[in-house]
Amino acid sequence: MSDYYTAKVIDHFNNPRNIGSLEDANVVVQAGDPGCGDALVFFIKIEDDIIHDIKFLIKGCGAAIATSSIATELVMGKTLEEVLTLDDNKIAAALDGLPEEKMHCSNMAASALHAAVHQYRATIAGETPPIG
Ligand code: FES
Repeated sequence: MSDYYTAKVIDHFNNPRNIGSLEDANVVVQAGDPGCGDALVFFIKIEDDIIHDIKFLIKGCGAAIATSSIATELVMGKTLEEVLTLDDNKIAAALDGLPEEKMHCSNMAASALHAAVHQYRATIAGETPPIG
């Protein structure tokens, strides 16, 4: 495994950051990868367009755990516009890379975070999502 994954992936897999649920979350999003059956839930506290807190629960592979963990660190304290710039490549880069066949695992966290921003804007912030 140590030749396959970077030290950062192994660290976040062994010691996931921000694992668990969040009682005062105002946005909860789920994402799943139909190809492997893995699933991820983010609990997020957003105020004034800033991620104040985030936790996650997951049923997934080691790469999914590591990418979700680092994703929480990457978005903590960030604006929603900054969250929307986060993609699977940036998450993988923050872990010093992922094996090509594991890149889809980082996409689960990225797509869930984008969905969280859209959910917040469509509901709590009361904005109408763009048509088309
Ligand atoms: Fe399912 Fe990694 S194999 S998310």
